[in-house]
Amino acid sequence: MHTFAEFVRYATMAPSGHNTQPWKFSVEKDCIRIFPDFTRALPVVDPDNRELYISIGCALENLAIAAKYAGYDPEVKYFQASEPDECLLVTLKHSKVTEDNNLFQAISRRHTNRREYNKQQIPAADLKKIESVPTEEGVTSLMLTEPGAIKEIIELVREGNRIQMNNDAFMDEITSWIRFSDSEAELHLDGLTSRAMGKSPAPGWLGRMFMRIFVGAKSQSKTDEKNMRSSSALMVVISEKNDKKIVDRCRAKL
Ligand SMILES: Cc1cc2nc3c(=O)[nH]c(=O)nc-3n(C[C@H](O)[C@H](O)[C@H](O)COP(=O)(O)O)c2cc1C
Repeated sequence: MHTFAEFVRYATMAPSGHNTQPWKFSVEKDCIRIFPDFTRALPVVDPDNRELYISIGCALENLAIAAKYAGYDPEVKYFQASEPDECLLVTLKHSKVTEDNNLFQAISRRHTNRREYNKQQIPAADLKKIESVPTEEGVTSLMLTEPGAIKEIIELVREGNRIQMNNDAFMDEITSWIRFSDSEAELHLDGLTSRAMGKSPAPGWLGRMFMRIFVGAKSQSKTDEKNMRSSSALMVVISEKNDKKIVDRCRAKL
């Protein structure tokens, strides 16, 4: 695993809003550029492209982990004015330091879980360890384990679902990114698959009809509450500003 193209492959395993994968890459002899792909923006749910920039930050994080694992020392320049197109510039030089490979192994194992957890508690010492991962300046995190605090978040999620899911434009946008059947998933290689949402695949026409009739704020909030109550902790990542360099740097905590 030494070629720059392979680092890009690991970068593309990063999480992204609605799995839009809103990034493009260019590979040169000693550097890789990551460009935001605005053709994959989500104007309804993410009108300021905040989540788009967090997503490309996640791709950057994977790329850096893969490059370090292969013996490179990545140096990142964020959105330099001298670049003709807005991008993250990652310069790669050989490094003498060998990296612990746990993070690298985690890239292909990590995925989003939208199913109920098994209620197994994560040991407090491990939660502390996650909490103490250093963040970039302007980024903080909050680990919530107390039932009272979790209840407050459940109320916020319920309110969020009520606002979003009663908005036809939101529902149309998310439906356009759902890949209901396996053949739709294979055709697009992006978006939210039925399986990733904890549902069985179905023909596209049936899935879209089901979405229109049965999916709404109430049912979503019920699922979200079940998932949150069964999880050992909730972690909230907070950026002081909505500046794109800051949101990009939230990546290390995601
Ligand atoms: C910025 C950002 C926002 C996200 N928002 C949500 C969300 O609101 N609800 C959700 O279920 N998943 C959310 N996700 C998870 C993505 O849907 C998920 O990463 C994507 O579908 C790819 O799947 P994977 O994480 O299993 O690789 C978000 C991910 C990112 C990076």
